[in-house]
Amino acid sequence: MTLEQLKNTIAAIEDYPKPGITFRDITPLLQNAEAFSACIDFFVERYIQQGITQVAAVEARGFIFGAAIAKALGCGLTLLRKPGKLPGNVITQRYQLEYGEDQLQMRSDSLKASDNVLIVDDLLATGGTVEAAAKLIKQTQARIHEAAFLVTLDGLPGEQKLQQQGLACYTLCRF
Ligand code: PRP
Ligand code: MG
Repeated sequence: MTLEQLKNTIAAIEDYPKPGITFRDITPLLQNAEAFSACIDFFVERYIQQGITQVAAVEARGFIFGAAIAKALGCGLTLLRKPGKLPGNVITQRYQLEYGEDQLQMRSDSLKASDNVLIVDDLLATGGTVEAAAKLIKQTQARIHEAAFLVTLDGLPGEQKLQQQGLACYTLCRF
């Protein structure tokens, strides 16, 4: 499967969740065994030789891809979760949503300074979510190799914002 064919398995839902918004729906990709497998293979091909020791995946949709990539790379999976979901000592980072704000949390003992971390999420829009993820990881002194996305929305400044902060971004599909 080519990247173009993979892109074509992502549906466009008009006026969702609000009028004027085109929602990029990854559920047809997930339901297509060949497409989901090819998607993970594209990521693994890029990262297999990069010495990644942990995949840090963002709840919820980032978990889908992060878990499969971590398994294929033979590395661990660090969960970046919405508030109140993780036991033990956690560190918390607030971030802005279009309306209001949310938080991500990570267990304080998740990462070591020697870790080489790949951040994974399904989609990059404003970049607020992964900016918060990177701030959590940086507190541990671990190295961030890159942030990997299935989809980047080119009409929004997320990718530029993250790159200006020194965070390399990689995406399979652009809309
Ligand atoms: C969505 C998407 C990304 C984030 C991207 O998550 O899965 O994580 O928004 O937006 P940003 O770049 O503007 O921060 P959302 O929290 O909506 O839902 P989810 O729990 O289904 O992943
Ligand atoms: Mg998400």
